[in-house]
Amino acid sequence: MQDFLVDTYGRKISSLRVSLTNRCNLRCIYCHNEGENNSGKEITVDEVAQIARIAARHGVDKIKFSGGEPLLRTDFEDILRALPDLRDVSVTTNGTLLAPRAQSLKDSGLDRVNVSLDSLSPDRFDFITKCPAGYIERVLDGISVALDVGLTPVKINMVYLKDVNEDEVEKMIDFIRGKPLVLQVIELMNFKGAFSYHADVAALEQKIKAKADKFVCREMHRRTKYYLDGAEVEIVRPIDNSEFCMNCNRLRVTSDCKLKPCLLRNDNLVSVRGMTDEELERALRHTVSIREPFFKSLSSHIPGKGKAKMPE
Ligand code: 5AD
Ligand code: SF4
Repeated sequence: MQDFLVDTYGRKISSLRVSLTNRCNLRCIYCHNEGENNSGKEITVDEVAQIARIAARHGVDKIKFSGGEPLLRTDFEDILRALPDLRDVSVTTNGTLLAPRAQSLKDSGLDRVNVSLDSLSPDRFDFITKCPAGYIERVLDGISVALDVGLTPVKINMVYLKDVNEDEVEKMIDFIRGKPLVLQVIELMNFKGAFSYHADVAALEQKIKAKADKFVCREMHRRTKYYLDGAEVEIVRPIDNSEFCMNCNRLRVTSDCKLKPCLLRNDNLVSVRGMTDEELERALRHTVSIREPFFKSLSSHIPGKGKAKMPE
């Protein structure tokens, strides 16, 4: 029988989220940088491969790469080729460097991509990402090539921002309709003091629900998927959402090769650089054993901490 990695809250680890770099060519106003603040040497191809191989022995069958901007890693194809056999290999990218790489990423074993696109308006896009003019065209091109080469479904990440793109959800839904695209509307998390842009996602969700033909509840993070006339929309509400935490089945790896039990904490990282397979296996078990939900539900077996404050 397979020896799964299960934490003391009964959450089975089935996926890894690996940050490949802290670097990014954009400067989004809200960026949480995967909760990292490090400047160590970037994780190597061999380090990623070793962690994935050991985790896969224990039932981990999904891996998602993130950044910073992971496509700044020119060896990303090497990383993909070094992975064990996994059910689902994906990347979250800002899409600006995707078009010329999409085919080689697909050929190297990438299954699908998530692309950040908060607005279809060039002015708003430039405001949000603080990038030089014209980058939105690169992102749209990236999405289109990703569709062509079959990196599907392509998920569009839209962070919902007060007075910036609140009025654009309908337009985004029209953009994805009828294509192998999924829209994820994400509630803003307060990492950069950009919380003045926080908008009420619960109200949006009610509106979407009222218009939906059908909806399905996903196990991971208890997200609900809504179907609106050929368009698939998910609303992601991580804030103070104990159900979100109780269903979290992923373990994070930082861009300087540390296991990270929770996006929202940096005080319990476990460095696994230079370890033998046996040492890494023990470190993996230890890291899983110290995992705890950041937002605890009243029914979880350790009393909750009350309303926790998000890190700045
Ligand atoms: N709140 C919510 N989502 C965020 N992302 C980055 N920073 C934040 C934040 N503060 C999301 C973006 C990006 C993904 C990597 O993380 O949607 O697509
Ligand atoms: Fe952060 Fe992603 Fe924006 Fe880069 S593209 S600044 S990593 S949210």
